[in-house]
Amino acid sequence: MKLLTGNSNKPLSKKISQFLKTKLVNSSIKKFADGEIYIEINENIRGNSIFIIQSVSSPANDNLMELLLCIDALKRSSAKNITAVIPYFGYARQDRKVVPRTSISAKLVSNLITKAGADRVVTVDLHSGQIQGFFDIPVDNLFATPIFARHVKKKIKEKNLICVAPDVGGTQRARALGNLLNVGLAIVDKRRPKPGQSQVMNVIGNVKDKTCIIVDDLIDSGGTIVNAAKALKDRGAKNVYVYITHGVLSGEAVKKIQKSVIKNLVITDTIDNSDKLKKAKNIEVLSISGLMGEAIKRISNSTSVSDLFK
Ligand code: R5P
Repeated sequence: MKLLTGNSNKPLSKKISQFLKTKLVNSSIKKFADGEIYIEINENIRGNSIFIIQSVSSPANDNLMELLLCIDALKRSSAKNITAVIPYFGYARQDRKVVPRTSISAKLVSNLITKAGADRVVTVDLHSGQIQGFFDIPVDNLFATPIFARHVKKKIKEKNLICVAPDVGGTQRARALGNLLNVGLAIVDKRRPKPGQSQVMNVIGNVKDKTCIIVDDLIDSGGTIVNAAKALKDRGAKNVYVYITHGVLSGEAVKKIQKSVIKNLVITDTIDNSDKLKKAKNIEVLSISGLMGEAIKRISNSTSVSDLFK
């Protein structure tokens, strides 16, 4: 078994390789003057099972193309099988036609990954579980919830906790964390009047005097979370903590969070945010490398991955 990294999140790939005590495959990923990506694998990988680690994070188009070209290079170098390890699966938000005449990017990206030659996909907290069905190859969708539950138990000593879904789509995720923490559930009724804008219509459940733990798959502009946190405070919540798997953190998101009522935001390192977060005080990063490394080990040894979540 060998590990190859793309350019999107080298610090995470390095941590996974340290966890597995395996060196990263020697490769060069360069660009031609016009921006085209060029990949060369500098060691023999014939007959090996290869795990290519690449997040489809910003710049999403370049990182996606790099992933596809890496898979193609591996296939043409006679790898025995290729697993696309995609810590952050971008392009997942368009997973159905919500209005007429739009694309379903999640399906197109799934087709591209399969067509390029991947035999399996490993990812973390897919935006919606049904994207697994867009593939006709095995997909292991890992969950950050157990990592978050451990952190809550260790760091938040307040009583009277409640888990909160920032929109109806996040209910299952919030309920899963609630079950691990043995606490109840509230749901924010969010609407999107326009793409990129979010509006809180209502909060379902009683949050008065409670410490709220909001959990979601991704934070992009920060609008959803900042508005949800304010709505909870307006309804009498004591404190609001936020746990989010993928820190997309576009534009002014970091500033917005710093100015918000959020006491602490915890994200994972599925996306490399080392530059953006240098001065951020209320944002903490937990590493997903152990979980991903363990999943890779189990796939490689043909043992159960789901046992990791029992
Ligand atoms: C929506 O379904 C997602 O789970 C996130 O809540 C959303 O994409 C976050 O976007 P933003 O931070 O831009 O509000």
